[in-house]
Amino acid sequence: MNLWDEYIAPPLVNLACSAKPIRYQRDKVVPKASGTVLEVGFGSGLNLPYYDADKVDRLFALEPHMAMRKRAAERVAASPLKIEYLDLPGEEIPLEDKAVDTVLITYTMCTIPDVMKALSGMRRVIKPGGQMIFCEHGLAPDAKVAKWQQRIEPAWKAIAGGCHLTRSVPNMLNASGFEITEIDQMYLPSTPQILGYNYWGTARPT
Ligand SMILES: C[S@@+](CC[C@H](N)C(=O)[O-])C[C@H]1O[C@@H](n2cnc3c(N)ncnc32)[C@H](O)[C@@H]1O
Repeated sequence: MNLWDEYIAPPLVNLACSAKPIRYQRDKVVPKASGTVLEVGFGSGLNLPYYDADKVDRLFALEPHMAMRKRAAERVAASPLKIEYLDLPGEEIPLEDKAVDTVLITYTMCTIPDVMKALSGMRRVIKPGGQMIFCEHGLAPDAKVAKWQQRIEPAWKAIAGGCHLTRSVPNMLNASGFEITEIDQMYLPSTPQILGYNYWGTARPT
């Protein structure tokens, strides 16, 4: 990992992910998590205050980057949840098959290098009757915006910790063996359109 990714990108990502429109999105999805939960790309723990502690038995927090985990420390200490870190990347989820009721993933499908492999691992660990809850930014439906996303993506990836702008969340979910059970999408307010096309909802393994 280079110095930018180690020291500069984590606070920038943390700041961007704390923006008001994103906090508003978190409140729409995170309280739905229940039972044994795996959060993929736990980051600096920004979802923690939104969990319904009465519904969550245990939280596996998968986050491969120590710099992000350090930023989460205070929130983890303040949380009433039983939290266990998994320090491998999302492509190598170290859990048994059908181990969790909920996979929660927010603003992370854009960053995981082999996202299809990671999604197939998430599918593997969900119990029958369980679900994935997602809230992600990605490819915009308008050709003009999408074209700019393609143009800017290489530079953006370099400064934003590997974040892609052109990943289609519904396509990736369908192609990795999920059935989307609920989906909403919109441009986030007060956010540049190339960064802020947001998809959120639920999916279950087919
Ligand atoms: C934009 S941040 C989002 C963090 C958090 N989910 C949130 O909503 O604030 C993306 C996160 O994905 C993590 N990440 C990067 N590569 C990953 C991988 N291969 N597997 C899982 N997480 C990864 C990054 O370290 C970072 O914490």
